[in-house]
Amino acid sequence: MSTRRPLISGNWKMNLNHFEAMKLIQELSYQITGDDIELVDVSVHPPFTDIRTVQTVLDSDKIPFFLGAQHCHFEERGAFTGEVAPSMLAKLNVKYVIVGHSERREIFNETDEMVNAKVKAILGAEMTPIVCCGETLEERDAGDAETKVGAQVQAALTGLTAEQVGGLVIAYEPIWAIGTGRTASAEDAQAMCHHVRAGVRGIYGDEAADSVRVQYGGSVKPANANELLTQADIDGALVGGASLSADDFSRIVQYRLL
Ligand code: 13P
Repeated sequence: MSTRRPLISGNWKMNLNHFEAMKLIQELSYQITGDDIELVDVSVHPPFTDIRTVQTVLDSDKIPFFLGAQHCHFEERGAFTGEVAPSMLAKLNVKYVIVGHSERREIFNETDEMVNAKVKAILGAEMTPIVCCGETLEERDAGDAETKVGAQVQAALTGLTAEQVGGLVIAYEPIWAIGTGRTASAEDAQAMCHHVRAGVRGIYGDEAADSVRVQYGGSVKPANANELLTQADIDGALVGGASLSADDFSRIVQYRLL
């Protein structure tokens, strides 16, 4: 068992307006107890329009979840219509920012270079990136999964110090498992998370590799959370669909009891 503190993150994607967000946070706060938070970190990643509302509810009700975002730009300010700067998120007490999600890479053409620039900008604003990586089904079937994921991680981390890398979260999300109901087997997920950590070890050394947290994401549900989250190199989950249900997400947070 690792000594790294697990991080369970709910990526709401483009779901829930700010009223619905408030309701979900309140439901979660009843179901996730102080005892749970003793053992795991929990972050919620609402759409931008909900972040201020969620921040207010977390603050006023003293709910110990970390606030997260799904995306940001890498520039600090300027003529980038529609974009949000890292410092704007930091000002709202955002702690974790998802970077390089496969939906951003595939639908919005985010490149490895952009992901790397965002990782640096997020760290510069004193927040923690959750750096996503993952292979397509074709890449897995062709035996290229490890190469693809290793290259994505290496590119995303280029130019960081070992200390910075040790504080990161990396989320392994096989693209074929996202929103499909098809989860990687616990063995395959563990093998790839181990591979990611080994890649970090090779470049940044033992201390960074032993402290970087590696999440698994892709159809995580209460039914598979325990098996996935008890693997040696899996330090948490990045949860999509199931994070929209207070029952499901809180049961995932309580995976030890499943
Ligand atoms: P699902 O849990 O809906 O498969 O989504 C995973 C994901 O993309 C989280 O970022």
